[in-house]
Amino acid sequence: MKLIYLITSLLLISSPIANAQSPFENPENLQILPKDIPPERLRAIMRNFSFALDVRCTHCHLRVEEDGEGRMVFDSDEKETKKIAREMMKMSGGINRDIRALNRGDDHQYTRVQCTTCHHGQENPFLIQSVMDGEIATGGVEAAKAKYAELKEKYYGGHTYDFSGFTLSEYANSLMEKGNMDQALDIALYSQQSNPKTPYAHTMVGNIYMAQEDYANAAKAYEASLKVDPEQGFIQDQLDKAKAAMQ
Ligand code: HEC
Ligand code: HEC
Repeated sequence: MKLIYLITSLLLISSPIANAQSPFENPENLQILPKDIPPERLRAIMRNFSFALDVRCTHCHLRVEEDGEGRMVFDSDEKETKKIAREMMKMSGGINRDIRALNRGDDHQYTRVQCTTCHHGQENPFLIQSVMDGEIATGGVEAAKAKYAELKEKYYGGHTYDFSGFTLSEYANSLMEKGNMDQALDIALYSQQSNPKTPYAHTMVGNIYMAQEDYANAAKAYEASLKVDPEQGFIQDQLDKAKAAMQ
């Protein structure tokens, strides 16, 4: 929905009917970008900002109501988000300068950090792991799983969150390392159930059962991992260990 709105509003902005003059011509208040920036370039940058954060222009720019009609005041610095965006532009520029200063030779093709590199479609970029941490802290593991399912439904296939089985099982691993064994097992089983084709999703369940000295269930999980990918010598060793411990 947001995207459709954005595209239509961009079309309106660039259409001569909606605006006698494009807002990108003769900018009044550029502090980072060059003051004589070509309108098309400014427009492209603003589009990029909006897509990178998945927001509308009004997220950063003031809109005033006059006689029941909305008017954008692009040169206003009233919105905090616009000021933050400026700091982000400086920060990104600084990072890119630091990267260039590595002087990796003329043949090296440098990667330029852009807003999307960090934001990938979020206003404030959070990794899925941080979202889960927050949910566990406030609502427990069930809330975290529900949130995960909700986000996956909404964002799967996009670039905003990493829904891979590896990452979810690695998150279970981080819970185990913190000593939260019940939560770790719960998330690991959830990942195993959601990602049966990911060997690591089974392996992680095995590792947690091993740590809990539940060798029968550990063996079962390692066997499931080997069934997906038999070429895992280390998991075969783990399976042998689990079986030996069972006796
Ligand atoms: C993430 C925040 C953000 C979003 C979203 C954003 N802008 Fe901007 N915009 C800025 C910042 C920051 C500047 C000032 C840049 C500078 O100081 O060099 C700016 C400057 C401008 C200017 C120049 C204003 C002037 O007179 O100085 C225009 C026009 C503009 N934006 C239009 C848009 C439009 C149209 C959209 C939606 C497609 C948009 N912006 C989305 C942050 C944003
Ligand atoms: C190196 C990573 C990184 C890059 C590159 C980056 N950002 Fe951010 N940005 C962040 C983080 C992290 C936050 C959240 C800060 C916080 O926790 O308060 C953030 C927050 C923001 C916010 C505040 C959002 C809100 O609604 O509260 C804006 C606006 C923003 N960034 C704009 C931009 C723009 C525009 C660019 C590109 C010029 C950019 N950022 C590039 C990491 C980045």
